Amino acid sequence: MSDSMAIVRVASENDLKVLSRKLLELIADEDGQAYRENVSKFGIPYEYVTRAFSEATLVAASKSGNSKFYLAFENGTVIGFAQMIRQQETVAELDRLIIFPEHARKGIGTQLLREVVIDQRSEGIQTIVVSAGKQEEQARRFYEKNGFRLTNETTIDAPWGKKLTLVTYQLHPE
Ligand SMILES: CC(C)(COP(=O)(O)OP(=O)(O)OC[C@H]1O[C@@H](n2cnc3c(N)ncnc32)[C@H](O)[C@@H]1OP(=O)(O)O)[C@@H](O)C(=O)NCCC(=O)NCCS
Repeated sequence: MSDSMAIVRVASENDLKVLSRKLLELIADEDGQAYRENVSKFGIPYEYVTRAFSEATLVAASKSGNSKFYLAFENGTVIGFAQMIRQQETVAELDRLIIFPEHARKGIGTQLLREVVIDQRSEGIQTIVVSAGKQEEQARRFYEKNGFRLTNETTIDAPWGKKLTLVTYQLHPE
């Protein structure tokens, strides 16, 4: 397998604008994978997702200092991103890692995650936690393949009023 390489960088404010536009475009397609994975799968209201992916939300999260966005580019175009949220001095959560559908399964998610982990480690992070839906086979396989260990399973009341069973993983970067 020959994996393609992407360029990964921490997002500037302008990058977040571009990212927001791309995410909103992806989820607007009701037949698309992004809509299925982000909206219909957990019964998340469309408005909730558009707010989460709006430029204002992304920029505010980045400016708060708790969230750090990493973008992956190919030929100058954004093809995926990761959002890390610091929870404690040495603990951070991988809030999202998405590789856009037409670029999936080429090793880019693995590359992006590796670069995120190195950068987080350099900032003193010793534990990275991530949650996934119990049924999210592909995300779970991706985390397991990348060294995350299952630590917990819990059912929560989602903010949009449904029950959701989540599994939690941890990674301790070396
Ligand atoms: C999950 C995701 C981040 C993986 O990124 P990617 O660039 O496609 O992943 P890679 O090519 O680096 O794959 C690494 C491994 O992950 C697992 N994996 C990735 N996509 C998978 C899929 N569709 N089905 C099963 N396993 C999968 C495989 O074990 C794969 O190794 P292999 O290709 O040698 O079998 C990406 O497909 C994605 O964004 N999906 C939608 C959003 C999502 O579920 N994000 C995670 C929760 S926020």
